[in-house]
Amino acid sequence: MDLVNVEEHAFINLHSILISLFSNAIKTAYPALEDFGKPAVSAGSKFADYQCNASMQICKLLKAKGENVSPNVVAKKLVDCLGQCNIIEKVDVSGQGFINVWLSRNKLRDILQYVLENKLKPKPLTNPQKIIVDFSAPNVAKEMHVGHLRSTIIGESLSRVFEFIGHDVLRINHIGDWGTQFGMLIALLQDKFPNYKTESPPIKDLQQFYKQSKVLFDSDLEFKKRAYDCVVKLQSMSPDHVQAWKLICDVSRKEFQKIYERLNISIIERGESFYQSRMETVVKDLEDKGFLENDDGRKIMWSPESSIPLTVVKSDGGFTYDTSDIATLKQRIEEEKADWIIYVVDAGQSLHFETLKKCAIHSGFLDPSKVRMDFVGFGVVLGEDKKKFKTRSGDTVRLASLLDEGIKRTRDKLVEKGRDKVLTDEELKLAETALAYGCIKYADLCHNRNHDYVFSFDKMLDDKGNTAVYLLYALTRIRSIINNLGTYTQDLNESISLDHDKEWKLAKTLLRFPEVISKITDDFCLHHLCEYLYDVATTFSEFYDNCYCIEKNPQTGEIVKVFTGRILLCKVTAEYMETGLNLLGISTVSRM
Ligand code: ARG
Repeated sequence: MDLVNVEEHAFINLHSILISLFSNAIKTAYPALEDFGKPAVSAGSKFADYQCNASMQICKLLKAKGENVSPNVVAKKLVDCLGQCNIIEKVDVSGQGFINVWLSRNKLRDILQYVLENKLKPKPLTNPQKIIVDFSAPNVAKEMHVGHLRSTIIGESLSRVFEFIGHDVLRINHIGDWGTQFGMLIALLQDKFPNYKTESPPIKDLQQFYKQSKVLFDSDLEFKKRAYDCVVKLQSMSPDHVQAWKLICDVSRKEFQKIYERLNISIIERGESFYQSRMETVVKDLEDKGFLENDDGRKIMWSPESSIPLTVVKSDGGFTYDTSDIATLKQRIEEEKADWIIYVVDAGQSLHFETLKKCAIHSGFLDPSKVRMDFVGFGVVLGEDKKKFKTRSGDTVRLASLLDEGIKRTRDKLVEKGRDKVLTDEELKLAETALAYGCIKYADLCHNRNHDYVFSFDKMLDDKGNTAVYLLYALTRIRSIINNLGTYTQDLNESISLDHDKEWKLAKTLLRFPEVISKITDDFCLHHLCEYLYDVATTFSEFYDNCYCIEKNPQTGEIVKVFTGRILLCKVTAEYMETGLNLLGISTVSRM
Protein backbone atom coordinates (compact mmCIF):
# COMPACT_ATOMS: atom_id res chain seq x y z
CA MET A 1 0.00 0.00 0.00
CA ASP A 2 1.62 3.23 -1.12
CA LEU A 3 -0.42 5.82 0.72
CA VAL A 4 1.78 8.82 0.25
CA ASN A 5 2.63 10.48 -2.99
CA VAL A 6 4.77 13.51 -2.29
CA GLU A 7 4.62 14.72 -5.85
CA GLU A 8 0.95 15.34 -5.31
CA HIS A 9 0.96 17.43 -2.18
CA ALA A 10 3.03 18.80 0.64
CA PHE A 11 0.39 18.80 3.28
CA ILE A 12 0.63 15.32 4.63
CA ASN A 13 -0.72 14.46 8.03
CA LEU A 14 1.81 11.81 9.08
CA HIS A 15 0.02 11.16 12.32
CA SER A 16 -3.31 10.38 10.70
CA ILE A 17 -1.63 8.16 8.09
CA LEU A 18 -0.03 6.14 10.88
CA ILE A 19 -3.33 5.92 12.74
CA SER A 20 -5.14 4.60 9.70
CA LEU A 21 -2.33 2.12 8.99
CA PHE A 22 -2.54 0.75 12.52
CA SER A 23 -6.28 0.81 12.46
CA ASN A 24 -6.28 -1.34 9.33
CA ALA A 25 -3.71 -3.67 10.84
CA ILE A 26 -5.95 -4.18 13.88
CA LYS A 27 -8.92 -4.95 11.65
CA THR A 28 -6.88 -7.52 9.71
CA ALA A 29 -5.25 -9.13 12.73
CA TYR A 30 -8.25 -9.09 15.06
CA PRO A 31 -11.45 -8.87 13.04
CA ALA A 32 -13.41 -9.76 16.18
CA LEU A 33 -12.55 -6.36 17.72
CA GLU A 34 -14.82 -4.47 15.37
CA ASP A 35 -15.35 -1.32 17.38
CA PHE A 36 -11.77 -0.78 18.49
CA GLY A 37 -11.79 2.92 17.59
CA LYS A 38 -8.65 4.95 16.94
CA PRO A 39 -5.40 3.36 18.11
CA ALA A 40 -3.18 5.68 20.14
CA VAL A 41 -0.13 6.79 18.17
CA SER A 42 2.21 9.32 19.72
CA ALA A 43 5.12 11.32 18.40
CA GLY A 44 8.49 12.16 19.77
CA SER A 45 9.47 9.38 22.12
CA LYS A 46 13.14 8.84 22.80
CA PHE A 47 12.99 5.38 21.26
CA ALA A 48 11.34 6.04 17.95
CA ASP A 49 9.87 8.70 15.69
CA TYR A 50 6.35 7.52 16.49
CA GLN A 51 5.05 4.87 18.79
CA CYS A 52 1.83 2.89 18.85
CA ASN A 53 0.75 1.31 22.10
CA ALA A 54 -2.53 -0.26 21.13
CA SER A 55 -1.29 -3.76 22.03
CA MET A 56 -2.02 -3.47 25.77
CA GLN A 57 -5.57 -2.40 25.12
CA ILE A 58 -6.07 -5.17 22.58
CA CYS A 59 -4.86 -7.73 25.13
CA LYS A 60 -7.42 -6.54 27.64
CA LEU A 61 -10.22 -6.76 25.11
CA LEU A 62 -9.10 -10.24 24.00
CA LYS A 63 -8.90 -11.36 27.62
CA ALA A 64 -12.49 -10.27 28.12
CA LYS A 65 -13.35 -12.54 25.22
CA GLY A 66 -11.48 -15.38 26.92
CA GLU A 67 -8.31 -15.23 24.84
CA ASN A 68 -5.00 -14.93 26.69
CA VAL A 69 -2.11 -13.44 24.73
CA SER A 70 0.81 -11.22 25.67
CA PRO A 71 1.08 -7.63 24.38
CA ASN A 72 4.35 -8.58 22.76
CA VAL A 73 2.69 -11.26 20.64
CA VAL A 74 -0.12 -8.86 19.73
CA ALA A 75 2.38 -6.16 18.73
CA LYS A 76 4.29 -8.59 16.49
CA LYS A 77 1.09 -9.69 14.82
CA LEU A 78 0.13 -6.06 14.18
CA VAL A 79 3.52 -5.38 12.63
CA ASP A 80 3.02 -8.38 10.34
CA CYS A 81 -0.33 -7.03 9.27
CA LEU A 82 0.86 -3.44 8.80
CA GLY A 83 0.45 -2.17 5.23
CA GLN A 84 3.40 -0.89 3.25
CA CYS A 85 3.85 2.83 3.27
CA ASN A 86 6.67 4.85 1.83
CA ILE A 87 6.91 7.25 4.77
CA ILE A 88 7.95 4.37 7.02
CA GLU A 89 11.57 3.25 7.14
CA LYS A 90 11.28 0.50 9.70
CA VAL A 91 9.01 -0.86 12.42
CA ASP A 92 9.88 -3.01 15.44
CA VAL A 93 8.54 -4.10 18.78
CA SER A 94 10.13 -3.21 22.07
CA GLY A 95 9.68 -4.40 25.66
CA GLN A 96 6.11 -4.99 26.60
CA GLY A 97 4.67 -4.58 23.17
CA PHE A 98 5.31 -1.01 22.14
CA ILE A 99 5.47 -0.69 18.39
CA ASN A 100 8.20 1.69 17.29
CA VAL A 101 8.03 3.41 13.95
CA TRP A 102 10.97 5.05 12.23
CA LEU A 103 10.15 7.39 9.41
CA SER A 104 11.95 7.55 6.13
CA ARG A 105 14.37 10.47 6.06
CA ASN A 106 14.35 10.48 2.30
CA LYS A 107 10.58 10.71 2.07
CA LEU A 108 10.36 13.43 4.73
CA ARG A 109 13.13 15.32 2.99
CA ASP A 110 11.12 15.13 -0.23
CA ILE A 111 8.12 16.66 1.50
CA LEU A 112 10.18 19.52 2.94
CA GLN A 113 11.86 20.02 -0.39
CA TYR A 114 8.43 20.26 -1.98
CA VAL A 115 7.38 22.90 0.57
CA LEU A 116 10.55 24.84 -0.16
CA GLU A 117 9.73 24.94 -3.84
CA ASN A 118 5.95 25.30 -3.72
CA LYS A 119 5.31 27.00 -0.39
CA LEU A 120 3.30 25.47 2.42
CA LYS A 121 -0.25 25.04 1.29
CA PRO A 122 -2.85 22.32 1.43
CA LYS A 123 -4.11 20.49 -1.62
CA PRO A 124 -7.18 22.22 -3.10
CA LEU A 125 -10.33 20.77 -1.57
CA THR A 126 -12.57 18.73 -3.80
CA ASN A 127 -15.57 19.82 -1.78
CA PRO A 128 -15.05 23.25 -0.17
CA GLN A 129 -17.72 24.24 2.32
CA LYS A 130 -19.46 27.52 2.80
CA ILE A 131 -18.60 28.46 6.37
CA ILE A 132 -20.02 31.45 8.23
CA VAL A 133 -17.95 32.65 11.15
CA ASP A 134 -19.95 34.95 13.44
CA PHE A 135 -17.47 36.88 15.54
CA SER A 136 -16.57 40.18 17.22
CA ALA A 137 -20.18 41.52 17.34
CA PRO A 138 -19.87 44.55 19.64
CA ASN A 139 -22.90 46.65 20.51
CA VAL A 140 -23.68 50.09 19.14
CA ALA A 141 -23.50 52.96 21.62
CA LYS A 142 -21.50 50.82 23.97
CA GLU A 143 -17.74 50.60 24.09
CA MET A 144 -16.13 47.50 22.65
CA HIS A 145 -14.61 45.63 25.60
CA VAL A 146 -12.08 42.88 26.19
CA GLY A 147 -14.73 40.17 25.73
CA HIS A 148 -15.25 41.44 22.19
CA LEU A 149 -11.48 41.51 21.81
CA ARG A 150 -11.31 37.77 22.48
CA SER A 151 -14.08 37.04 20.01
CA THR A 152 -12.37 39.25 17.43
CA ILE A 153 -8.97 37.64 17.81
CA ILE A 154 -10.21 34.04 17.92
CA GLY A 155 -12.75 34.58 15.13
CA GLU A 156 -10.23 36.18 12.81
CA SER A 157 -7.74 33.41 13.37
CA LEU A 158 -10.29 30.61 12.91
CA SER A 159 -11.45 32.25 9.69
CA ARG A 160 -7.86 32.32 8.48
CA VAL A 161 -7.42 28.64 9.26
CA PHE A 162 -10.56 27.63 7.36
CA GLU A 163 -9.65 29.85 4.41
CA PHE A 164 -6.15 28.39 4.38
CA ILE A 165 -7.59 24.89 4.11
CA GLY A 166 -9.60 26.11 1.12
CA HIS A 167 -13.12 26.68 2.43
CA ASP A 168 -15.33 29.56 1.40
CA VAL A 169 -15.54 31.65 4.58
CA LEU A 170 -18.00 34.46 5.22
CA ARG A 171 -16.95 36.55 8.23
CA ILE A 172 -19.98 38.23 9.77
CA ASN A 173 -20.11 41.00 12.35
CA HIS A 174 -23.48 40.56 14.04
CA ILE A 175 -23.38 43.91 15.83
CA GLY A 176 -26.06 44.85 18.34
CA ASP A 177 -27.70 47.68 16.43
CA TRP A 178 -31.41 47.03 17.05
CA GLY A 179 -33.89 46.84 19.89
CA THR A 180 -35.51 48.85 22.66
CA GLN A 181 -32.24 50.51 23.62
CA PHE A 182 -32.38 52.59 20.43
CA GLY A 183 -35.80 53.92 21.35
CA MET A 184 -34.37 54.91 24.73
CA LEU A 185 -31.39 56.56 23.13
CA ILE A 186 -33.40 58.53 20.60
CA ALA A 187 -35.80 59.68 23.34
CA LEU A 188 -32.87 60.95 25.37
CA LEU A 189 -31.20 62.59 22.39
CA GLN A 190 -34.43 64.48 21.76
CA ASP A 191 -33.92 66.09 25.20
CA LYS A 192 -30.16 66.40 25.41
CA PHE A 193 -28.91 66.68 21.86
CA PRO A 194 -31.63 68.38 19.82
CA ASN A 195 -29.46 68.38 16.70
CA TYR A 196 -29.45 64.60 16.75
CA LYS A 197 -31.12 64.26 13.33
CA THR A 198 -28.31 65.96 11.48
CA GLU A 199 -25.32 65.77 13.79
CA SER A 200 -23.79 62.78 15.56
CA PRO A 201 -22.83 63.10 19.19
CA PRO A 202 -19.23 62.13 20.05
CA ILE A 203 -18.84 58.50 21.13
CA LYS A 204 -18.07 59.41 24.75
CA ASP A 205 -21.35 61.34 25.03
CA LEU A 206 -23.17 58.54 23.30
CA GLN A 207 -22.11 56.09 25.95
CA GLN A 208 -23.08 58.52 28.68
CA PHE A 209 -26.46 59.04 27.01
CA TYR A 210 -26.88 55.30 26.81
CA LYS A 211 -26.34 54.90 30.55
CA GLN A 212 -28.60 57.84 31.41
CA SER A 213 -31.36 56.62 29.14
CA LYS A 214 -31.37 53.26 30.91
CA VAL A 215 -31.74 54.93 34.28
CA LEU A 216 -34.58 57.12 33.04
CA PHE A 217 -36.29 54.22 31.32
CA ASP A 218 -36.46 52.35 34.61
CA SER A 219 -37.51 55.32 36.77
CA ASP A 220 -39.53 57.73 34.64
CA LEU A 221 -42.82 56.47 33.25
CA GLU A 222 -43.26 59.36 30.83
CA PHE A 223 -39.79 58.72 29.43
CA LYS A 224 -40.47 55.01 29.15
CA LYS A 225 -43.61 55.70 27.11
CA ARG A 226 -41.74 58.04 24.83
CA ALA A 227 -38.91 55.52 24.40
CA TYR A 228 -41.39 52.84 23.37
CA ASP A 229 -42.97 55.25 20.97
CA CYS A 230 -39.55 55.85 19.43
CA VAL A 231 -38.91 52.10 19.06
CA VAL A 232 -42.22 51.63 17.31
CA LYS A 233 -41.47 54.54 14.98
CA LEU A 234 -37.99 53.23 14.31
CA GLN A 235 -39.20 49.71 13.59
CA SER A 236 -41.85 51.04 11.25
CA MET A 237 -39.07 52.95 9.49
CA SER A 238 -40.14 56.51 10.24
CA PRO A 239 -37.56 58.53 8.28
CA ASP A 240 -36.59 60.86 11.15
CA HIS A 241 -36.05 58.00 13.55
CA VAL A 242 -34.17 55.93 11.02
CA GLN A 243 -31.96 58.91 10.30
CA ALA A 244 -31.19 59.41 14.00
CA TRP A 245 -30.51 55.70 14.41
CA LYS A 246 -28.15 55.71 11.41
CA LEU A 247 -26.13 58.57 12.86
CA ILE A 248 -25.83 56.77 16.17
CA CYS A 249 -24.64 53.60 14.42
CA ASP A 250 -22.13 55.58 12.38
CA VAL A 251 -20.47 56.94 15.50
CA SER A 252 -19.93 53.46 16.89
CA ARG A 253 -19.04 51.97 13.55
CA LYS A 254 -16.16 54.43 13.14
CA GLU A 255 -14.81 53.43 16.54
CA PHE A 256 -15.06 49.72 15.78
CA GLN A 257 -13.40 50.23 12.43
CA LYS A 258 -10.38 51.88 14.03
CA ILE A 259 -9.83 48.80 16.17
CA TYR A 260 -10.26 46.44 13.22
CA GLU A 261 -7.77 48.41 11.16
CA ARG A 262 -5.20 48.41 13.93
CA LEU A 263 -5.58 44.67 14.44
CA ASN A 264 -5.86 43.84 10.74
CA ILE A 265 -9.27 42.22 11.06
CA SER A 266 -11.47 41.76 8.05
CA ILE A 267 -15.17 41.30 8.67
CA ILE A 268 -18.47 42.23 7.05
CA GLU A 269 -20.98 44.13 9.13
CA ARG A 270 -24.46 42.68 9.20
CA GLY A 271 -26.10 43.64 12.45
CA GLU A 272 -29.32 42.61 14.12
CA SER A 273 -31.26 45.35 12.27
CA PHE A 274 -30.64 43.55 8.98
CA TYR A 275 -33.07 40.86 10.12
CA GLN A 276 -36.04 43.10 11.12
CA SER A 277 -38.37 42.01 8.32
CA ARG A 278 -37.14 38.44 8.53
CA MET A 279 -37.96 38.42 12.23
CA GLU A 280 -41.54 39.34 11.40
CA THR A 281 -41.77 36.54 8.86
CA VAL A 282 -40.20 33.89 11.04
CA VAL A 283 -42.37 34.79 14.04
CA LYS A 284 -45.48 34.48 11.92
CA ASP A 285 -44.25 31.21 10.51
CA LEU A 286 -43.50 29.74 13.94
CA GLU A 287 -46.84 30.93 15.21
CA ASP A 288 -48.73 29.41 12.26
CA LYS A 289 -47.00 26.11 12.77
CA GLY A 290 -47.94 26.11 16.42
CA PHE A 291 -44.45 26.33 17.89
CA LEU A 292 -45.16 29.37 20.07
CA GLU A 293 -46.68 29.17 23.52
CA ASN A 294 -48.22 31.95 25.53
CA ASP A 295 -46.45 32.57 28.81
CA ASP A 296 -47.82 35.49 30.81
CA GLY A 297 -48.23 37.57 27.67
CA ARG A 298 -44.87 36.56 26.21
CA LYS A 299 -44.57 34.18 23.32
CA ILE A 300 -42.01 31.53 24.02
CA MET A 301 -40.71 28.50 22.21
CA TRP A 302 -39.60 25.19 23.71
CA SER A 303 -37.91 22.23 22.19
CA PRO A 304 -38.42 18.88 23.92
CA GLU A 305 -34.66 18.78 24.53
CA SER A 306 -34.05 22.22 25.99
CA SER A 307 -33.97 23.26 29.63
CA ILE A 308 -35.11 26.82 28.95
CA PRO A 309 -37.35 28.30 26.26
CA LEU A 310 -36.53 31.05 23.76
CA THR A 311 -38.43 34.29 24.22
CA VAL A 312 -39.65 35.02 20.73
CA VAL A 313 -42.01 37.96 21.39
CA LYS A 314 -41.99 40.10 24.55
CA SER A 315 -45.28 40.98 26.26
CA ASP A 316 -45.06 44.46 24.74
CA GLY A 317 -44.89 42.89 21.29
CA GLY A 318 -41.19 43.62 20.80
CA PHE A 319 -38.61 41.16 19.53
CA THR A 320 -35.59 39.97 21.50
CA TYR A 321 -32.01 38.79 21.06
CA ASP A 322 -33.51 35.28 20.68
CA THR A 323 -35.83 36.41 17.88
CA SER A 324 -33.00 38.00 15.98
CA ASP A 325 -30.85 34.90 16.33
CA ILE A 326 -33.63 32.65 15.04
CA ALA A 327 -34.12 34.86 11.97
CA THR A 328 -30.36 35.10 11.50
CA LEU A 329 -29.82 31.36 11.60
CA LYS A 330 -32.64 30.82 9.12
CA GLN A 331 -31.25 33.46 6.77
CA ARG A 332 -27.81 31.86 6.91
CA ILE A 333 -29.16 28.44 6.07
CA GLU A 334 -31.73 29.39 3.46
CA GLU A 335 -30.28 32.47 1.78
CA GLU A 336 -26.54 32.12 2.37
CA LYS A 337 -26.67 28.36 1.83
CA ALA A 338 -24.17 27.86 4.62
CA ASP A 339 -22.87 24.35 5.20
CA TRP A 340 -21.39 25.24 8.54
CA ILE A 341 -22.07 28.09 10.96
CA ILE A 342 -19.61 28.90 13.73
CA TYR A 343 -20.42 31.31 16.56
CA VAL A 344 -17.46 32.77 18.42
CA VAL A 345 -19.10 34.22 21.51
CA ASP A 346 -18.24 34.28 25.23
CA ALA A 347 -18.98 31.10 27.17
CA GLY A 348 -21.70 32.92 29.13
CA GLN A 349 -23.92 32.60 26.06
CA SER A 350 -23.48 28.86 25.54
CA LEU A 351 -26.96 28.04 26.86
CA HIS A 352 -28.52 30.60 24.51
CA PHE A 353 -26.89 28.97 21.49
CA GLU A 354 -27.62 25.46 22.69
CA THR A 355 -31.30 26.38 23.04
CA LEU A 356 -31.28 28.15 19.68
CA LYS A 357 -29.88 25.05 18.00
CA LYS A 358 -32.38 22.70 19.64
CA CYS A 359 -35.32 24.93 18.77
CA ALA A 360 -34.08 25.34 15.19
CA ILE A 361 -33.86 21.56 14.82
CA HIS A 362 -37.24 21.11 16.49
CA SER A 363 -38.98 23.59 14.20
CA GLY A 364 -37.35 21.97 11.21
CA PHE A 365 -35.28 24.67 9.55
CA LEU A 366 -31.98 23.30 10.80
CA ASP A 367 -31.19 19.78 9.64
CA PRO A 368 -28.02 18.81 11.51
CA SER A 369 -27.21 16.14 8.94
CA LYS A 370 -26.94 18.88 6.30
CA VAL A 371 -25.83 21.99 8.15
CA ARG A 372 -23.35 22.01 10.98
CA MET A 373 -23.68 24.57 13.76
CA ASP A 374 -20.94 25.03 16.37
CA PHE A 375 -20.66 27.28 19.36
CA VAL A 376 -17.08 28.32 20.02
CA GLY A 377 -17.09 29.83 23.50
CA PHE A 378 -14.27 31.36 25.50
CA GLY A 379 -13.53 32.35 29.08
CA VAL A 380 -13.21 35.81 30.56
CA VAL A 381 -10.18 38.07 30.59
CA LEU A 382 -8.88 38.57 34.12
CA GLY A 383 -6.71 41.32 35.56
CA GLU A 384 -3.45 40.49 37.35
CA ASP A 385 -5.48 40.38 40.57
CA LYS A 386 -7.33 37.38 39.04
CA LYS A 387 -10.58 39.35 39.08
CA LYS A 388 -12.53 40.44 36.03
CA PHE A 389 -10.34 42.79 34.00
CA LYS A 390 -11.21 46.38 34.98
CA THR A 391 -9.48 49.75 35.13
CA ARG A 392 -8.24 51.05 38.49
CA SER A 393 -11.45 53.01 38.89
CA GLY A 394 -13.49 49.86 38.25
CA ASP A 395 -14.65 50.71 34.72
CA THR A 396 -14.50 48.31 31.81
CA VAL A 397 -11.21 48.65 29.99
CA ARG A 398 -11.48 50.59 26.73
CA LEU A 399 -9.99 48.60 23.90
CA ALA A 400 -8.42 51.60 22.24
CA SER A 401 -6.54 52.59 25.38
CA LEU A 402 -5.46 49.00 25.88
CA LEU A 403 -3.92 48.93 22.41
CA ASP A 404 -2.30 52.32 23.04
CA GLU A 405 -0.73 51.04 26.22
CA GLY A 406 0.54 47.96 24.36
CA ILE A 407 2.23 50.19 21.80
CA LYS A 408 3.78 52.40 24.45
CA ARG A 409 5.13 49.50 26.48
CA THR A 410 6.56 47.84 23.39
CA ARG A 411 8.24 51.07 22.31
CA ASP A 412 9.80 51.39 25.80
CA LYS A 413 11.13 47.84 25.58
CA LEU A 414 12.63 48.42 22.15
CA VAL A 415 14.29 51.63 23.36
CA GLU A 416 15.54 49.84 26.47
CA LYS A 417 17.26 47.36 24.17
CA GLY A 418 18.73 50.21 22.14
CA ARG A 419 16.85 49.18 19.03
CA ASP A 420 15.94 52.81 18.29
CA LYS A 421 19.64 53.37 17.50
CA VAL A 422 19.84 50.47 15.07
CA LEU A 423 16.53 50.60 13.25
CA THR A 424 15.22 53.30 10.97
CA ASP A 425 12.13 55.18 12.15
CA GLU A 426 10.00 53.22 9.76
CA GLU A 427 11.44 49.89 10.87
CA LEU A 428 10.90 50.85 14.48
CA LYS A 429 7.29 51.70 13.83
CA LEU A 430 6.71 48.41 12.02
CA ALA A 431 8.42 46.41 14.77
CA GLU A 432 6.44 48.22 17.44
CA THR A 433 3.02 47.46 15.94
CA ALA A 434 3.88 43.90 14.93
CA LEU A 435 5.14 43.19 18.44
CA ALA A 436 2.44 44.99 20.41
CA TYR A 437 -0.56 43.63 18.52
CA GLY A 438 1.13 40.29 17.97
CA CYS A 439 1.64 39.92 21.71
CA ILE A 440 -1.91 40.82 22.58
CA LYS A 441 -3.25 38.33 20.04
CA TYR A 442 -0.83 35.60 20.99
CA ALA A 443 -1.50 35.97 24.73
CA ASP A 444 -5.14 35.30 23.99
CA LEU A 445 -4.67 32.49 21.48
CA CYS A 446 -2.01 30.55 23.38
CA HIS A 447 -4.40 29.78 26.22
CA ASN A 448 -7.03 27.11 25.89
CA ARG A 449 -9.96 29.27 24.81
CA ASN A 450 -12.28 27.54 27.27
CA HIS A 451 -10.34 28.91 30.21
CA ASP A 452 -10.19 32.39 31.68
CA TYR A 453 -6.83 34.05 31.25
CA VAL A 454 -4.88 36.77 33.01
CA PHE A 455 -4.06 39.80 30.92
CA SER A 456 -0.51 40.84 31.75
CA PHE A 457 1.60 43.11 29.57
CA ASP A 458 4.71 42.08 31.50
CA LYS A 459 4.16 38.43 30.66
CA MET A 460 3.16 38.90 27.06
CA LEU A 461 6.10 41.21 26.31
CA ASP A 462 8.66 38.87 27.87
CA ASP A 463 11.12 37.73 25.22
CA LYS A 464 11.94 34.45 26.93
CA GLY A 465 8.71 32.53 27.51
CA ASN A 466 6.08 31.26 25.13
CA THR A 467 5.25 34.68 23.73
CA ALA A 468 4.90 36.37 20.37
CA VAL A 469 8.08 38.35 21.13
CA TYR A 470 10.04 35.14 21.44
CA LEU A 471 8.60 33.74 18.23
CA LEU A 472 9.08 36.93 16.24
CA TYR A 473 12.69 37.18 17.42
CA ALA A 474 13.25 33.55 16.51
CA LEU A 475 11.94 34.16 13.02
CA THR A 476 13.98 37.32 12.42
CA ARG A 477 17.02 35.40 13.60
CA ILE A 478 16.38 32.62 11.10
CA ARG A 479 15.94 35.17 8.37
CA SER A 480 19.14 36.92 9.31
CA ILE A 481 21.05 33.63 9.16
CA ILE A 482 19.82 33.26 5.59
CA ASN A 483 20.57 36.89 4.78
CA ASN A 484 24.05 36.56 6.27
CA LEU A 485 24.99 34.72 3.16
CA GLY A 486 24.85 38.10 1.49
CA THR A 487 26.42 38.00 -1.89
CA TYR A 488 28.26 34.81 -1.09
CA THR A 489 27.25 32.74 -4.03
CA GLN A 490 26.86 29.10 -3.52
CA ASP A 491 24.86 26.55 -5.34
CA LEU A 492 21.65 26.21 -3.33
CA ASN A 493 20.66 23.29 -5.50
CA GLU A 494 21.69 20.83 -2.87
CA SER A 495 19.02 19.10 -0.83
CA ILE A 496 17.92 19.73 2.74
CA SER A 497 20.25 18.17 5.25
CA LEU A 498 18.66 15.71 7.69
CA ASP A 499 21.63 13.62 8.84
CA HIS A 500 22.37 15.22 12.18
CA ASP A 501 20.04 14.24 15.04
CA LYS A 502 19.05 17.85 15.61
CA GLU A 503 18.29 18.38 11.94
CA TRP A 504 16.10 15.32 11.96
CA LYS A 505 14.34 16.42 15.14
CA LEU A 506 13.59 19.80 13.58
CA ALA A 507 12.24 18.18 10.41
CA LYS A 508 9.90 15.93 12.35
CA THR A 509 8.67 18.88 14.39
CA LEU A 510 7.97 20.95 11.28
CA LEU A 511 6.08 18.11 9.65
CA ARG A 512 3.54 17.99 12.47
CA PHE A 513 1.95 21.13 11.00
CA PRO A 514 -0.91 19.41 9.07
CA GLU A 515 -1.74 17.40 12.18
CA VAL A 516 -2.00 20.63 14.20
CA ILE A 517 -4.27 22.27 11.64
CA SER A 518 -6.50 19.23 11.60
CA LYS A 519 -6.77 19.33 15.41
CA ILE A 520 -7.85 22.98 15.23
CA THR A 521 -10.65 22.15 12.82
CA ASP A 522 -11.80 19.49 15.29
CA ASP A 523 -11.89 21.51 18.49
CA PHE A 524 -11.43 25.15 17.37
CA CYS A 525 -8.54 25.54 19.82
CA LEU A 526 -5.79 27.74 18.46
CA HIS A 527 -3.42 27.07 21.32
CA HIS A 528 -2.39 23.91 19.43
CA LEU A 529 -0.84 26.13 16.80
CA CYS A 530 0.84 28.35 19.42
CA GLU A 531 2.34 25.30 21.12
CA TYR A 532 3.50 24.00 17.76
CA LEU A 533 5.21 27.27 16.83
CA TYR A 534 6.88 27.47 20.20
CA ASP A 535 8.11 23.93 19.73
CA VAL A 536 9.45 24.76 16.29
CA ALA A 537 11.27 27.83 17.63
CA THR A 538 12.90 25.98 20.52
CA THR A 539 13.79 22.98 18.35
CA PHE A 540 15.30 25.32 15.80
CA SER A 541 17.35 26.90 18.54
CA GLU A 542 18.65 23.46 19.57
CA PHE A 543 19.56 22.71 15.97
CA TYR A 544 21.32 26.04 15.52
CA ASP A 545 23.33 25.62 18.72
CA ASN A 546 24.54 22.24 17.52
CA CYS A 547 24.93 22.61 13.80
CA TYR A 548 27.06 25.14 11.98
CA CYS A 549 25.21 26.76 9.12
CA ILE A 550 27.90 29.18 8.00
CA GLU A 551 31.53 29.01 9.02
CA LYS A 552 33.39 32.28 9.15
CA ASN A 553 37.03 33.12 9.55
CA PRO A 554 37.18 34.34 13.18
CA GLN A 555 39.78 36.99 12.30
CA THR A 556 38.40 38.45 9.13
CA GLY A 557 34.74 37.51 9.45
CA GLU A 558 34.91 36.24 5.91
CA ILE A 559 32.69 33.28 5.01
CA VAL A 560 34.75 30.14 4.71
CA LYS A 561 32.13 27.49 4.24
CA VAL A 562 28.38 27.38 3.81
CA PHE A 563 26.43 24.29 4.86
CA THR A 564 23.89 24.62 2.12
CA GLY A 565 21.66 21.75 3.24
CA ARG A 566 21.28 23.48 6.59
CA ILE A 567 20.57 26.89 5.10
CA LEU A 568 17.76 25.18 3.23
CA LEU A 569 16.50 23.74 6.50
CA CYS A 570 16.51 27.30 7.91
CA LYS A 571 14.56 28.49 4.91
CA VAL A 572 11.90 25.83 5.20
CA THR A 573 11.62 26.46 8.96
CA ALA A 574 10.97 30.15 8.22
CA GLU A 575 8.24 29.11 5.77
CA TYR A 576 6.43 27.02 8.40
CA MET A 577 6.78 29.74 11.04
CA GLU A 578 5.55 32.50 8.76
CA THR A 579 2.56 30.46 7.66
CA GLY A 580 1.68 29.62 11.26
CA LEU A 581 2.06 33.19 12.54
CA ASN A 582 -0.01 34.45 9.67
CA LEU A 583 -2.83 32.07 10.62
CA LEU A 584 -2.72 33.54 14.11
CA GLY A 585 -3.07 36.99 12.55
CA ILE A 586 0.42 38.00 13.66
CA SER A 587 2.43 40.16 11.26
CA THR A 588 6.10 39.43 10.92
CA VAL A 589 8.88 41.94 10.31
CA SER A 590 12.24 41.65 8.65
CA ARG A 591 14.09 43.63 11.31
CA MET A 592 13.30 44.35 14.93
N1 ARG B 1 -23.66 41.49 20.48
C1 ARG B 1 -23.59 40.31 21.29
C2 ARG B 1 -22.87 40.63 22.59
O1 ARG B 1 -22.16 41.61 22.69
C3 ARG B 1 -22.89 39.16 20.60
C4 ARG B 1 -23.55 38.65 19.35
C5 ARG B 1 -23.04 37.28 18.94
N2 ARG B 1 -23.63 36.75 17.77
C6 ARG B 1 -24.92 36.31 17.65
N3 ARG B 1 -25.35 35.86 16.50
N4 ARG B 1 -25.71 36.31 18.69
O2 ARG B 1 -23.02 39.89 23.54
